[in-house]
Amino acid sequence: MSQAWDLGDPFADARAGAGALVGDFGGEAIPLILRYKEVRAAASDWQTYSSDTPFRVPIPSEEHTRTVRQLPIETDPPEHKAFRALVQPLFAKPKQPGMIAEIEALVDDMVASVRGRASFDAIEDFAFPLQTKALTLLLGMPMSEAEEWRSWGLHVLQGEDPAGDKVEAYVHRQLDRAEAEPGDDFFSVLVQAEVDGRRLNRDEMLGYSLLAFAGGRDTVITTTAFAMAHFASTPEDRQRIRENPQLVRGAVEEVVRVVSPLTLIGRTCPHATRIHDVNVEAGQRTAICWASANRDPDAFEDPLAVKIDRKRNAHVGLVPATIPVSGRRMRAWCCAARSTPSATTLVACRYSKWMRTTKNGRHTDARPATKNCS
Ligand code: HEM
Repeated sequence: MSQAWDLGDPFADARAGAGALVGDFGGEAIPLILRYKEVRAAASDWQTYSSDTPFRVPIPSEEHTRTVRQLPIETDPPEHKAFRALVQPLFAKPKQPGMIAEIEALVDDMVASVRGRASFDAIEDFAFPLQTKALTLLLGMPMSEAEEWRSWGLHVLQGEDPAGDKVEAYVHRQLDRAEAEPGDDFFSVLVQAEVDGRRLNRDEMLGYSLLAFAGGRDTVITTTAFAMAHFASTPEDRQRIRENPQLVRGAVEEVVRVVSPLTLIGRTCPHATRIHDVNVEAGQRTAICWASANRDPDAFEDPLAVKIDRKRNAHVGLVPATIPVSGRRMRAWCCAARSTPSATTLVACRYSKWMRTTKNGRHTDARPATKNCS
């Protein structure tokens, strides 16, 4: 199998050597947990690595770009369980045949919109509009909303010009509308939802909405763009997918592993602890580095190769399904694993179908530009 690029592994030396790496994030020294086994252990040890710290789970933190804590992510068990249960049906939606058909039709439209162009930008012209439109399906909103969502930019709550104010104003409008006239969209679910026998308050509804808009955005866009770039530049893999479409499922897992679009996530240590030789003070932030774990040679053979038929691909790009539930933190094992990569899968499928139609079976006329959007 040929591979068009070097995936790189900026964590390799620290992971193999000291085991931890202290990063400087805007002046904040944050020790990173790097090894696969230690990442998995930390992800389930909420007593030591807590998420119950509003604004401080994302790195950089988001005190200045939003007014409320995000739900369910910025909570710990047992509180997390009830908050999580509320969005569970949403995450299950992409399994429904109707939704799959809608996403397929959407991807078809997107392919048609760029097909035949001399060139296009894989992010601006494809992955970004696809992500916002696919999110309308997930949230049960009219597709016309996607334009406004796109105007908030790639990162929404991060970067030089975060759109927190605009997004919060939009969410309040939608919640007002849903309170006056509930339908079956995401905002209507929130205004009617109960957690532990009580209605959500406005801040909580806002907290769920902000995560829906920010969490599945650049992650999805980066993953989609990488899948396109990989299949555009690796004819052998295109051919294998065409011959055996069942490979698409594993291919998406592999793409999520190598891209690891959520590089790391913050945790705050309520008590002093130690990560290898690094002392962590009570109240200090640490980071679980999914991207490093997904490149750990102790967990993945030949980790820098993209192997679409990789066996036992227990990557942590979406947090592993196999983390035991009992008494432990159970996080996003299903969120994007169901919704976005299914769209990405379809992109890969459609894209390879499209390749077949180009000259000599090679995609020569519309090679996507790749961009780093993380
Ligand atoms: C390829 C795309 C995606 C990747 C790689 C990804 C990755 C992750 C990861 C690693 C976490 C765990 C964070 C933690 O442990 O603190 C997480 C949490 C979460 N993500 Fe995603 N995500 C993706 C797409 C999405 C999408 C499309 C949505 C919804 C629109 C979404 C909503 C959430 C939510 C609600 C949580 C919190 C879950 C919980 O606390 O139980 N994500 N995501």
